[in-house]
Amino acid sequence: MTARKVKILVVIRDDSFRSRVVQILRFRIKDSKDIHEMRSIEEAIEHLEARRDDYGLIVFESRGSSRTLLRAMIDLGREAAVIVCGTDEQVVSEFKGSEVPVVFLSIDSVLDQLTKTVKSLELSGKIPLFQENESEYLGIRVDLLPTLGPLEANVYMLILDGRYVPIFKKGDRVTISDIKHFIEKIPDQVFYFRRDECKDLLQSQIQRLESALTEVPLDSQRVEHVISENFGIVRDVVSQIGFTPEAQRVAVNSVMLTIKLLGASPKLKTILTDLKEKEGGYISSHSIYLGKVACALAHKVGWRSQSTYFKLTLAAFLHDISLKEDRLALVRDLELFEKSGNGEPEEIREIRIHPARAAEYARQFQEIPSEVEQIVAQHHERPDGTGFPRGLVVRYFTPLSALFVIAQDLVVFLNAAPEKDLSFEKFFEEKELDYNVGIFRKLARAIRTDTTLV
Ligand SMILES: [Fe+2]
Ligand SMILES: [Fe+2]
Repeated sequence: MTARKVKILVVIRDDSFRSRVVQILRFRIKDSKDIHEMRSIEEAIEHLEARRDDYGLIVFESRGSSRTLLRAMIDLGREAAVIVCGTDEQVVSEFKGSEVPVVFLSIDSVLDQLTKTVKSLELSGKIPLFQENESEYLGIRVDLLPTLGPLEANVYMLILDGRYVPIFKKGDRVTISDIKHFIEKIPDQVFYFRRDECKDLLQSQIQRLESALTEVPLDSQRVEHVISENFGIVRDVVSQIGFTPEAQRVAVNSVMLTIKLLGASPKLKTILTDLKEKEGGYISSHSIYLGKVACALAHKVGWRSQSTYFKLTLAAFLHDISLKEDRLALVRDLELFEKSGNGEPEEIREIRIHPARAAEYARQFQEIPSEVEQIVAQHHERPDGTGFPRGLVVRYFTPLSALFVIAQDLVVFLNAAPEKDLSFEKFFEEKELDYNVGIFRKLARAIRTDTTLV
Protein backbone atom coordinates (compact mmCIF):
# COMPACT_ATOMS: atom_id res chain seq x y z
CA MET A 1 0.00 0.00 0.00
CA THR A 2 1.33 3.39 -0.87
CA ALA A 3 0.24 6.50 0.95
CA ARG A 4 -1.56 8.99 -1.21
CA LYS A 5 -1.14 12.64 -0.61
CA VAL A 6 -4.34 13.35 1.20
CA LYS A 7 -5.12 16.06 3.69
CA ILE A 8 -6.89 16.32 6.99
CA LEU A 9 -9.22 19.15 7.91
CA VAL A 10 -9.77 19.94 11.59
CA VAL A 11 -12.64 22.22 12.54
CA ILE A 12 -12.71 22.97 16.26
CA ARG A 13 -13.48 26.30 17.87
CA ASP A 14 -11.43 26.07 21.05
CA ASP A 15 -7.78 26.78 20.27
CA SER A 16 -6.18 24.57 22.88
CA PHE A 17 -8.50 21.61 22.25
CA ARG A 18 -7.92 21.95 18.52
CA SER A 19 -4.16 22.03 18.89
CA ARG A 20 -4.23 18.86 20.99
CA VAL A 21 -6.29 17.10 18.34
CA VAL A 22 -3.90 18.30 15.64
CA GLN A 23 -0.97 17.11 17.71
CA ILE A 24 -2.43 13.60 17.83
CA LEU A 25 -3.21 13.62 14.10
CA ARG A 26 0.35 14.61 13.26
CA PHE A 27 1.40 11.11 14.16
CA ARG A 28 -0.67 9.80 11.31
CA ILE A 29 0.55 12.12 8.60
CA LYS A 30 3.99 12.68 7.14
CA ASP A 31 3.81 16.35 6.38
CA SER A 32 2.24 18.54 9.04
CA LYS A 33 1.37 21.10 6.34
CA ASP A 34 -1.28 18.62 5.23
CA ILE A 35 -3.39 19.34 8.28
CA HIS A 36 -5.65 22.35 7.85
CA GLU A 37 -7.12 23.95 10.92
CA MET A 38 -10.27 26.01 11.10
CA ARG A 39 -12.30 27.52 13.89
CA SER A 40 -15.83 27.37 12.56
CA ILE A 41 -17.97 25.14 10.43
CA GLU A 42 -19.08 28.15 8.32
CA GLU A 43 -15.44 28.90 7.55
CA ALA A 44 -14.91 25.22 6.66
CA ILE A 45 -17.88 25.19 4.31
CA GLU A 46 -16.62 28.30 2.56
CA HIS A 47 -13.19 26.76 2.24
CA LEU A 48 -14.54 23.50 0.90
CA GLU A 49 -16.73 25.32 -1.61
CA ALA A 50 -13.92 27.52 -2.85
CA ARG A 51 -11.16 24.96 -3.13
CA ARG A 52 -11.09 21.45 -4.34
CA ASP A 53 -8.75 20.06 -1.78
CA ASP A 54 -8.61 16.34 -1.61
CA TYR A 55 -9.39 15.69 2.03
CA GLY A 56 -9.23 12.14 3.28
CA LEU A 57 -10.49 12.98 6.73
CA ILE A 58 -12.45 15.77 8.38
CA VAL A 59 -12.48 15.98 12.15
CA PHE A 60 -14.86 18.49 13.61
CA GLU A 61 -16.69 19.50 16.70
CA SER A 62 -20.44 19.50 16.33
CA ARG A 63 -21.31 21.53 19.43
CA GLY A 64 -23.71 24.26 18.49
CA SER A 65 -23.74 23.57 14.77
CA SER A 66 -26.95 22.74 12.97
CA ARG A 67 -27.63 19.52 11.13
CA THR A 68 -27.95 21.40 7.86
CA LEU A 69 -24.43 22.74 8.23
CA LEU A 70 -23.21 19.31 9.20
CA ARG A 71 -24.86 17.79 6.14
CA ALA A 72 -23.44 20.55 3.91
CA MET A 73 -19.95 19.94 5.18
CA ILE A 74 -20.15 16.20 4.77
CA ASP A 75 -21.44 16.65 1.21
CA LEU A 76 -18.76 19.16 0.34
CA GLY A 77 -16.09 16.95 1.83
CA ARG A 78 -16.99 14.47 -0.90
CA GLU A 79 -14.95 11.32 -0.30
CA ALA A 80 -13.65 12.36 3.10
CA ALA A 81 -14.40 10.25 6.13
CA VAL A 82 -15.77 12.36 8.96
CA ILE A 83 -15.15 12.08 12.67
CA VAL A 84 -17.75 14.09 14.56
CA CYS A 85 -16.79 15.10 18.10
CA GLY A 86 -19.79 16.05 20.14
CA THR A 87 -22.03 15.42 23.09
CA ASP A 88 -25.04 13.96 21.30
CA GLU A 89 -24.60 10.90 19.12
CA GLN A 90 -27.97 11.61 17.48
CA VAL A 91 -26.33 14.19 15.23
CA VAL A 92 -24.79 11.40 13.19
CA SER A 93 -27.78 9.07 13.15
CA GLU A 94 -28.97 10.15 9.71
CA PHE A 95 -25.54 9.32 8.26
CA LYS A 96 -25.49 5.71 9.44
CA GLY A 97 -24.93 3.47 6.47
CA SER A 98 -23.98 6.35 4.17
CA GLU A 99 -21.19 5.87 1.62
CA VAL A 100 -18.54 7.79 3.47
CA PRO A 101 -17.93 6.71 7.04
CA VAL A 102 -19.19 9.14 9.65
CA VAL A 103 -17.95 8.24 13.10
CA PHE A 104 -19.07 9.81 16.36
CA LEU A 105 -16.72 10.37 19.29
CA SER A 106 -17.92 11.91 22.50
CA ILE A 107 -16.00 15.06 23.39
CA ASP A 108 -14.64 13.47 26.56
CA SER A 109 -13.17 10.51 24.74
CA VAL A 110 -11.72 12.25 21.67
CA LEU A 111 -8.17 12.56 22.95
CA ASP A 112 -8.10 8.91 24.02
CA GLN A 113 -9.92 7.42 21.08
CA LEU A 114 -8.79 9.47 18.11
CA THR A 115 -5.64 7.51 17.21
CA LYS A 116 -7.47 4.21 17.50
CA THR A 117 -10.39 5.46 15.40
CA VAL A 118 -8.15 6.81 12.64
CA LYS A 119 -6.08 3.64 12.60
CA SER A 120 -9.13 1.44 12.31
CA LEU A 121 -10.52 3.58 9.47
CA GLU A 122 -7.16 3.26 7.77
CA LEU A 123 -6.82 -0.46 8.23
CA SER A 124 -10.32 -1.05 6.94
CA GLY A 125 -9.54 0.93 3.80
CA LYS A 126 -12.15 3.60 4.52
CA ILE A 127 -9.55 6.33 4.48
CA PRO A 128 -6.12 6.33 2.88
CA LEU A 129 -3.17 5.25 4.94
CA PHE A 130 -1.85 8.58 6.07
CA GLN A 131 1.19 7.07 7.66
CA GLU A 132 2.74 4.93 5.02
CA ASN A 133 2.24 1.34 6.01
CA GLU A 134 5.39 0.26 4.32
CA SER A 135 7.44 2.41 6.62
CA GLU A 136 10.63 0.90 7.87
CA TYR A 137 9.08 0.64 11.32
CA LEU A 138 6.66 -1.69 12.92
CA GLY A 139 4.63 -0.81 16.00
CA ILE A 140 4.08 -3.01 19.06
CA ARG A 141 1.82 -1.81 21.84
CA VAL A 142 3.77 -0.55 24.83
CA ASP A 143 2.26 -2.98 27.31
CA LEU A 144 3.82 -5.91 25.43
CA LEU A 145 7.38 -4.75 25.78
CA PRO A 146 8.07 -6.08 29.30
CA THR A 147 7.77 -9.60 28.00
CA LEU A 148 10.58 -9.22 25.54
CA GLY A 149 13.44 -9.79 27.97
CA PRO A 150 16.85 -8.56 26.81
CA LEU A 151 16.03 -6.69 23.66
CA GLU A 152 16.82 -8.36 20.39
CA ALA A 153 16.32 -5.14 18.49
CA ASN A 154 16.57 -1.40 18.96
CA VAL A 155 13.36 0.22 20.14
CA TYR A 156 12.17 3.56 18.80
CA MET A 157 9.46 6.02 19.61
CA LEU A 158 7.72 8.24 17.12
CA ILE A 159 8.03 11.92 17.90
CA LEU A 160 5.86 14.80 16.84
CA ASP A 161 7.58 15.68 13.61
CA GLY A 162 7.27 12.10 12.39
CA ARG A 163 10.83 11.00 13.21
CA TYR A 164 11.64 7.74 14.95
CA VAL A 165 14.01 8.24 17.85
CA PRO A 166 15.86 5.32 19.46
CA ILE A 167 15.05 4.92 23.15
CA PHE A 168 16.43 1.47 24.00
CA LYS A 169 19.32 -0.34 22.42
CA LYS A 170 19.57 -3.93 21.32
CA GLY A 171 20.78 -5.97 24.28
CA ASP A 172 19.26 -3.61 26.88
CA ARG A 173 17.27 -5.24 29.63
CA VAL A 174 14.28 -2.96 30.00
CA THR A 175 12.55 -2.65 33.33
CA ILE A 176 8.93 -1.76 33.99
CA SER A 177 10.00 1.59 35.42
CA ASP A 178 11.98 2.40 32.23
CA ILE A 179 8.83 1.75 30.29
CA LYS A 180 6.66 3.80 32.62
CA HIS A 181 9.06 6.67 32.15
CA PHE A 182 8.42 6.65 28.41
CA ILE A 183 4.74 5.74 28.35
CA GLU A 184 3.66 9.24 29.34
CA LYS A 185 5.59 10.70 26.45
CA ILE A 186 4.04 8.40 23.87
CA PRO A 187 0.57 9.51 22.82
CA ASP A 188 0.03 6.63 20.40
CA GLN A 189 1.11 4.08 23.05
CA VAL A 190 3.22 2.18 20.56
CA PHE A 191 6.92 1.35 20.52
CA TYR A 192 8.53 0.88 17.14
CA PHE A 193 11.02 -1.62 15.80
CA ARG A 194 12.75 -1.53 12.49
CA ARG A 195 11.02 -3.89 10.13
CA ASP A 196 14.25 -5.62 9.22
CA GLU A 197 14.88 -6.35 12.90
CA CYS A 198 11.43 -7.76 13.50
CA LYS A 199 12.60 -11.19 12.48
CA ASP A 200 15.19 -11.21 15.30
CA LEU A 201 12.58 -10.01 17.71
CA LEU A 202 10.20 -12.83 16.86
CA GLN A 203 13.06 -15.29 16.77
CA SER A 204 13.83 -14.51 20.40
CA GLN A 205 10.18 -15.06 21.29
CA ILE A 206 10.29 -18.41 19.52
CA GLN A 207 13.29 -19.38 21.64
CA ARG A 208 11.56 -18.32 24.83
CA LEU A 209 8.52 -20.39 23.92
CA GLU A 210 10.64 -23.36 22.93
CA SER A 211 12.54 -23.31 26.17
CA ALA A 212 9.26 -23.10 28.08
CA LEU A 213 8.10 -26.16 26.16
CA THR A 214 10.94 -28.21 27.64
CA GLU A 215 10.55 -26.80 31.15
CA VAL A 216 9.82 -29.30 33.90
CA PRO A 217 7.84 -28.54 35.95
CA LEU A 218 6.01 -25.80 34.16
CA ASP A 219 5.47 -22.54 36.02
CA SER A 220 1.92 -22.28 34.80
CA GLN A 221 1.25 -18.70 35.84
CA ARG A 222 4.32 -17.36 34.12
CA VAL A 223 3.71 -19.50 31.06
CA GLU A 224 0.11 -18.27 30.78
CA HIS A 225 1.46 -14.76 30.80
CA VAL A 226 4.01 -15.51 28.09
CA ILE A 227 1.30 -17.09 25.91
CA SER A 228 -1.06 -14.19 26.28
CA GLU A 229 1.62 -11.59 25.54
CA ASN A 230 2.78 -13.53 22.52
CA PHE A 231 -0.78 -13.52 21.30
CA GLY A 232 -0.66 -9.71 21.49
CA ILE A 233 2.68 -9.54 19.69
CA VAL A 234 1.47 -11.84 16.91
CA ARG A 235 -1.69 -9.78 16.54
CA ASP A 236 0.25 -6.51 16.19
CA VAL A 237 2.75 -8.02 13.76
CA VAL A 238 0.10 -9.74 11.63
CA SER A 239 -1.98 -6.59 11.27
CA GLN A 240 1.04 -4.75 9.88
CA ILE A 241 3.11 -7.22 7.90
CA GLY A 242 1.00 -10.37 7.70
CA PHE A 243 1.66 -13.88 8.97
CA THR A 244 5.39 -14.12 8.36
CA PRO A 245 7.01 -17.55 8.91
CA GLU A 246 8.37 -16.30 12.25
CA ALA A 247 4.94 -15.06 13.36
CA GLN A 248 3.55 -18.48 12.41
CA ARG A 249 6.14 -20.19 14.58
CA VAL A 250 5.34 -17.95 17.52
CA ALA A 251 1.66 -18.84 17.08
CA VAL A 252 2.31 -22.58 16.76
CA ASN A 253 4.65 -22.63 19.77
CA SER A 254 2.15 -20.66 21.86
CA VAL A 255 -0.50 -23.18 20.91
CA MET A 256 1.73 -26.13 21.81
CA LEU A 257 2.52 -24.53 25.14
CA THR A 258 -1.19 -24.06 25.80
CA ILE A 259 -1.76 -27.75 25.10
CA LYS A 260 1.12 -28.68 27.36
CA LEU A 261 -0.45 -26.61 30.13
CA LEU A 262 -3.72 -28.43 29.61
CA GLY A 263 -2.17 -31.83 30.15
CA ALA A 264 -3.51 -35.12 28.81
CA SER A 265 -6.96 -34.80 30.40
CA PRO A 266 -8.18 -31.25 30.12
CA LYS A 267 -10.51 -30.70 33.05
CA LEU A 268 -13.35 -28.43 32.16
CA LYS A 269 -14.07 -27.43 35.72
CA THR A 270 -10.56 -26.13 36.39
CA ILE A 271 -10.54 -24.25 33.11
CA LEU A 272 -13.91 -22.65 33.68
CA THR A 273 -13.12 -21.67 37.24
CA ASP A 274 -10.07 -19.85 35.94
CA LEU A 275 -12.03 -18.09 33.26
CA LYS A 276 -13.12 -15.05 35.19
CA GLU A 277 -9.96 -14.54 37.15
CA LYS A 278 -7.64 -13.74 34.34
CA GLU A 279 -6.62 -10.26 33.50
CA GLY A 280 -5.79 -9.11 29.98
CA GLY A 281 -7.95 -8.09 27.10
CA TYR A 282 -11.00 -10.11 26.25
CA ILE A 283 -9.73 -11.10 22.83
CA SER A 284 -6.49 -12.48 24.18
CA SER A 285 -7.96 -14.32 27.14
CA HIS A 286 -11.06 -15.33 25.19
CA SER A 287 -8.94 -16.88 22.45
CA ILE A 288 -6.72 -18.78 24.82
CA TYR A 289 -9.58 -19.95 27.04
CA LEU A 290 -11.72 -20.87 24.12
CA GLY A 291 -8.95 -23.20 22.97
CA LYS A 292 -8.85 -24.85 26.37
CA VAL A 293 -12.61 -25.18 26.67
CA ALA A 294 -12.83 -26.64 23.17
CA CYS A 295 -10.16 -29.23 24.10
CA ALA A 296 -12.01 -30.12 27.30
CA LEU A 297 -15.24 -30.62 25.35
CA ALA A 298 -13.37 -32.70 22.78
CA HIS A 299 -12.03 -34.82 25.62
CA LYS A 300 -15.56 -35.30 26.93
CA VAL A 301 -16.87 -36.53 23.62
CA GLY A 302 -13.93 -38.90 23.24
CA TRP A 303 -11.79 -37.02 20.73
CA ARG A 304 -8.61 -37.18 22.71
CA SER A 305 -5.72 -37.00 20.27
CA GLN A 306 -2.99 -34.39 20.43
CA SER A 307 -3.75 -33.49 16.84
CA THR A 308 -7.38 -32.66 17.70
CA TYR A 309 -6.23 -30.49 20.59
CA PHE A 310 -3.75 -28.79 18.31
CA LYS A 311 -6.35 -28.00 15.64
CA LEU A 312 -8.84 -26.60 18.16
CA THR A 313 -6.29 -24.53 20.05
CA LEU A 314 -4.72 -23.09 16.91
CA ALA A 315 -8.18 -22.28 15.55
CA ALA A 316 -8.96 -20.50 18.81
CA PHE A 317 -5.71 -18.53 18.63
CA LEU A 318 -6.53 -17.35 15.10
CA HIS A 319 -10.30 -17.02 15.03
CA ASP A 320 -10.67 -13.40 16.22
CA ILE A 321 -7.12 -12.20 15.62
CA SER A 322 -8.11 -9.57 13.07
CA LEU A 323 -10.57 -7.86 15.43
CA LYS A 324 -9.05 -4.86 17.07
CA GLU A 325 -11.55 -4.32 19.84
CA ASP A 326 -12.81 -6.62 22.56
CA ARG A 327 -16.27 -5.17 22.09
CA LEU A 328 -16.44 -6.53 18.55
CA ALA A 329 -15.26 -9.99 19.53
CA LEU A 330 -18.17 -10.26 21.95
CA VAL A 331 -20.81 -9.96 19.23
CA ARG A 332 -22.50 -13.30 18.58
CA ASP A 333 -25.62 -12.14 16.77
CA LEU A 334 -24.64 -9.75 14.01
CA GLU A 335 -28.19 -8.92 12.99
CA LEU A 336 -29.06 -7.94 16.54
CA PHE A 337 -25.89 -5.87 16.80
CA GLU A 338 -26.74 -4.09 13.56
CA LYS A 339 -30.24 -3.30 14.75
CA SER A 340 -29.01 -2.11 18.14
CA GLY A 341 -27.28 0.81 16.46
CA ASN A 342 -24.21 0.27 18.66
CA GLY A 343 -21.90 -0.39 15.76
CA GLU A 344 -20.58 1.77 12.98
CA PRO A 345 -21.10 0.38 9.45
CA GLU A 346 -17.36 -0.19 9.32
CA GLU A 347 -17.37 -2.23 12.52
CA ILE A 348 -20.24 -4.35 11.24
CA ARG A 349 -18.24 -5.01 8.09
CA GLU A 350 -15.18 -5.84 10.17
CA ILE A 351 -17.17 -8.37 12.18
CA ARG A 352 -18.76 -9.84 9.09
CA ILE A 353 -15.46 -10.53 7.37
CA HIS A 354 -13.32 -11.59 10.33
CA PRO A 355 -14.06 -15.33 9.97
CA ALA A 356 -12.90 -15.19 6.33
CA ARG A 357 -9.80 -13.25 7.35
CA ALA A 358 -9.00 -15.85 9.97
CA ALA A 359 -9.41 -18.58 7.36
CA GLU A 360 -7.02 -16.73 5.11
CA TYR A 361 -4.46 -16.58 7.91
CA ALA A 362 -4.90 -20.29 8.54
CA ARG A 363 -4.32 -20.97 4.83
CA GLN A 364 -1.02 -19.10 4.96
CA PHE A 365 0.35 -21.50 7.57
CA GLN A 366 2.72 -24.11 6.36
CA GLU A 367 1.73 -27.69 7.10
CA ILE A 368 -1.44 -26.96 9.00
CA PRO A 369 -4.41 -29.32 8.69
CA SER A 370 -7.13 -27.83 6.49
CA GLU A 371 -9.67 -28.38 9.27
CA VAL A 372 -8.27 -25.37 11.12
CA GLU A 373 -9.27 -23.21 8.19
CA GLN A 374 -12.79 -24.65 8.25
CA ILE A 375 -13.17 -24.19 11.99
CA VAL A 376 -12.27 -20.51 11.89
CA ALA A 377 -14.28 -19.87 8.74
CA GLN A 378 -17.36 -21.39 10.36
CA HIS A 379 -17.04 -20.06 13.90
CA HIS A 380 -19.97 -17.65 13.55
CA GLU A 381 -22.24 -19.93 11.55
CA ARG A 382 -25.26 -21.36 13.35
CA PRO A 383 -26.89 -24.77 12.98
CA ASP A 384 -30.15 -23.18 11.74
CA GLY A 385 -28.43 -21.11 9.07
CA THR A 386 -28.79 -17.75 10.82
CA GLY A 387 -25.06 -17.26 11.30
CA PHE A 388 -22.54 -15.37 9.21
CA PRO A 389 -20.81 -14.81 6.88
CA ARG A 390 -22.34 -17.56 4.76
CA GLY A 391 -25.47 -18.61 6.60
CA LEU A 392 -24.49 -22.28 6.37
CA VAL A 393 -26.92 -24.87 7.63
CA VAL A 394 -26.01 -27.76 9.87
CA ARG A 395 -25.01 -30.30 7.26
CA TYR A 396 -22.09 -28.11 6.15
CA PHE A 397 -20.48 -28.05 9.58
CA THR A 398 -17.50 -30.28 10.17
CA PRO A 399 -17.69 -32.08 13.52
CA LEU A 400 -14.81 -30.01 14.89
CA SER A 401 -16.43 -26.76 13.71
CA ALA A 402 -19.65 -27.69 15.48
CA LEU A 403 -17.76 -28.48 18.67
CA PHE A 404 -15.91 -25.18 18.39
CA VAL A 405 -19.19 -23.25 18.05
CA ILE A 406 -20.55 -24.97 21.15
CA ALA A 407 -17.34 -24.18 23.04
CA GLN A 408 -17.59 -20.54 22.06
CA ASP A 409 -21.25 -20.32 23.05
CA LEU A 410 -20.33 -21.83 26.40
CA VAL A 411 -17.46 -19.39 27.00
CA VAL A 412 -19.67 -16.42 26.15
CA PHE A 413 -22.48 -17.80 28.33
CA LEU A 414 -20.21 -18.28 31.33
CA ASN A 415 -18.50 -15.00 30.78
CA ALA A 416 -21.84 -13.26 31.07
CA ALA A 417 -22.94 -15.29 34.08
CA PRO A 418 -19.89 -16.73 35.81
CA GLU A 419 -21.68 -17.38 39.07
CA LYS A 420 -24.06 -19.83 37.40
CA ASP A 421 -23.60 -23.52 38.02
CA LEU A 422 -21.12 -25.36 35.87
CA SER A 423 -23.33 -28.38 35.38
CA PHE A 424 -24.19 -27.24 31.85
CA GLU A 425 -27.86 -27.71 32.57
CA LYS A 426 -28.81 -24.09 32.23
CA PHE A 427 -26.60 -23.63 29.23
CA PHE A 428 -28.04 -26.61 27.39
CA GLU A 429 -31.58 -25.66 28.35
CA GLU A 430 -31.02 -22.31 26.72
CA LYS A 431 -29.56 -23.90 23.63
CA GLU A 432 -31.99 -26.83 23.47
CA LEU A 433 -33.70 -25.74 20.27
CA ASP A 434 -30.55 -24.41 18.73
CA TYR A 435 -28.65 -27.65 19.11
CA ASN A 436 -31.52 -29.96 18.33
CA VAL A 437 -30.21 -30.93 14.94
CA GLY A 438 -27.56 -33.16 13.31
CA ILE A 439 -24.04 -33.12 14.67
CA PHE A 440 -24.96 -30.46 17.25
CA ARG A 441 -27.54 -32.76 18.82
CA LYS A 442 -25.04 -35.61 18.98
CA LEU A 443 -22.35 -33.47 20.54
CA ALA A 444 -24.69 -31.80 23.02
CA ARG A 445 -25.92 -35.21 24.11
CA ALA A 446 -22.41 -36.59 24.53
CA ILE A 447 -21.25 -33.57 26.50
CA ARG A 448 -24.34 -33.58 28.69
CA THR A 449 -24.40 -37.22 29.54
CA ASP A 450 -20.73 -37.54 30.40
CA THR A 451 -20.56 -35.67 33.67
CA THR A 452 -17.44 -37.38 34.90
CA LEU A 453 -15.17 -34.48 34.15
CA VAL A 454 -17.28 -31.57 35.22
FE1 LIG B 1 -14.50 -15.37 19.38
FE1 LIG C 1 -15.34 -14.27 16.11
